[in-house]
Amino acid sequence: MENENNNLKIISNPIVNQSLCVMRNKETDTQGVRLAARKLTRILLYEATKNLPQKEVEIETPVAKCLTQTINDDITIIISPILRAGLIFTDEAVDILPQATIRHIGMYRDEKTLKPVWYYNKVPMPVHNPDKYYVFITDPMLATGNSLKEAIRLYVSKGIPEKNISCICMISSPIGIKAVFEEFNDVNLIVAAVDSHLNERGYIVPGMGDAGDRIFNT
Ligand code: URA
Repeated sequence: MENENNNLKIISNPIVNQSLCVMRNKETDTQGVRLAARKLTRILLYEATKNLPQKEVEIETPVAKCLTQTINDDITIIISPILRAGLIFTDEAVDILPQATIRHIGMYRDEKTLKPVWYYNKVPMPVHNPDKYYVFITDPMLATGNSLKEAIRLYVSKGIPEKNISCICMISSPIGIKAVFEEFNDVNLIVAAVDSHLNERGYIVPGMGDAGDRIFNT
């Protein structure tokens, strides 16, 4: 798929491809899927965090004083996994961004309508200084885009700029990408793969099946 929107990043390298190959394969067991997903998380998160504001600090190494860059500490970083499959990103994400707050978003997909149904929302209200919030919404599968759009809507409704919201997905569909950017042109979307289409049950083809089932062995 053409990278039509500058805010869409399709990350491809041999480690990403190998991880996807393992995750997609129906012969891979839960342990294998989790390990591959964790590797992917790291790579995708490195890309997604490129817009975090930095500041210069002076520190002292064992050898000398030096000026160095670090992430600004006057910002609020939120990692927002869409339950349940989005949880797979969390352990790696908090290792990489220990200062982050985790805000779970509980939604499941109604199998008939494919529309998201809320069951848990732990996002605080109100948000002070929304410009200083940086949100990373995680969901391994971007299929119809309905759940992701609902999650983005929640943060945008609190005044957080779209450009500060990054959505991290492993496997996506063209229709899901289009749906997200149609409503939110300025959000960032980081994916490892764009697949062909959705089947009649709303699954990504070829995809990896039900990501939650594959990750949680259900
Ligand atoms: N959710 C999944 O887990 N898999 C898909 O293919 C689509 C949505």
